Amino acid sequence: MGSFRFRLKDGNQPLSVEDWHQRARRKLPEVALTYVEGGADDKTTLGENMSAFRSWRLRQRALTGIADPELGTTIAGTQVSMPVALAPVGAMGLAHYTGDVAAARAAEACGTRLALSTASSYNLEEVGTATQENHWFQLYPIGGRVRLARLLDRARAAGFTALFVTVDVMTLGNREGERRWNMVLPWTITPRRALHMLPHWKWIYQTLRHKRIASSHFLEMAKEAAEEELAASGGLGRGVAEAMASREFLFKLMMNELDWDDVAFIRDNWKGPLYIKGILDADDAAMAVDKIGAEGVVVSNHGGRQLDRCLASIDALPAIVDRIGDRAEVYLDGGVRRGTDVITALCLGAKGVFIGRPYLYGLICEGESGVRSVLEIFREEIKRNLVLMGCPSVAKLDRSWLVRPGQLPEQP
Ligand SMILES: Cc1cc2nc3c(=O)[nH]c(=O)nc-3n(C[C@H](O)[C@H](O)[C@H](O)COP(=O)(O)O)c2cc1C
Repeated sequence: MGSFRFRLKDGNQPLSVEDWHQRARRKLPEVALTYVEGGADDKTTLGENMSAFRSWRLRQRALTGIADPELGTTIAGTQVSMPVALAPVGAMGLAHYTGDVAAARAAEACGTRLALSTASSYNLEEVGTATQENHWFQLYPIGGRVRLARLLDRARAAGFTALFVTVDVMTLGNREGERRWNMVLPWTITPRRALHMLPHWKWIYQTLRHKRIASSHFLEMAKEAAEEELAASGGLGRGVAEAMASREFLFKLMMNELDWDDVAFIRDNWKGPLYIKGILDADDAAMAVDKIGAEGVVVSNHGGRQLDRCLASIDALPAIVDRIGDRAEVYLDGGVRRGTDVITALCLGAKGVFIGRPYLYGLICEGESGVRSVLEIFREEIKRNLVLMGCPSVAKLDRSWLVRPGQLPEQP
């Protein structure tokens, strides 16, 4: 006779990123969920970022005796325990009031790092002080060269070692969900919105109490620029806050006319490793490396939040690796939800991947420990699948580990 144990509750610990996603959906008010989940236009690219991974098949070798594959590698010049790091996310305090500090702490506890957004909810110094390890900084080239140079000095002084320059936000993508919620600061609270948020009183209380939505660097730079603009235009009776409140103003700061010379200026002002984030085209990847002297690129479409119907990241990756992979590092983000996605990206030549929404789901539900749990799911899934494939380490992954149905694999 078998024995059994009686429990009142089903075990409900999330087992996958999708489990965390579903849990996060219940936890967050719609306004914040819209921001996290949002994509541009019809969300074609947002969906394809995920589905495009599923057209690849992994090679399975039997009886290889591999039980404990090696996951360690380097990302952006830093030794990491797995080929997964945390992508920059602006206004992270909207997901959870502990925001960037919790994410950075979780990353280092798991042996990896966070790329802190320019639009972060906690600033460079706060994250630098709250963590043990050096993290990385993501730069939005905003506000003109003088302000940029100052921000880079700040990042260096706060101990940030690598720079990711985001180049795919020349203007804001059309995220209609956010536009419907009128997501500019200060928010307007209408009776409908108040009613909607009521069941999420805990989130509202914490968000209002800690006031960690808006980014300090971003707003500091915007405030300075607004003051200068008002002074130059004679003020016209408008206040700085009013001038800054318009979505147009914030994105005018984003230097729409940004070109490769501006990125060369940033290169000249940053001595550490520098990566261009938001590259989908092999010619641009070659420019980044050969003209700018970047250490590499992040193949990314901003998680489908900017140009809809551009290539899914994983579809853009092979041509970029073919063009610059022999002399530069290539990373990828967008749609990574499973260990098998990470493995596929590495097989196609990525040195590592970044995750965005997946760790936000953990953060929304449980703060720092939620982010750690999501990272550990990735570690477990990568390890398990390498064992099942018969591959000894992430360093050994290459295109010979991929097969298309009906196609004969190459000899490794
Ligand atoms: C809510 C949210 C905010 C983001 N903010 C930034 C940002 O401030 N800077 C940046 O370079 N990328 C930003 N991104 C893009 C991410 O860095 C990353 O490219 C994307 O999330 C990867 O796709 P995934 O969410 O499917 O993993 C943001 C993404 C999300 C979901």
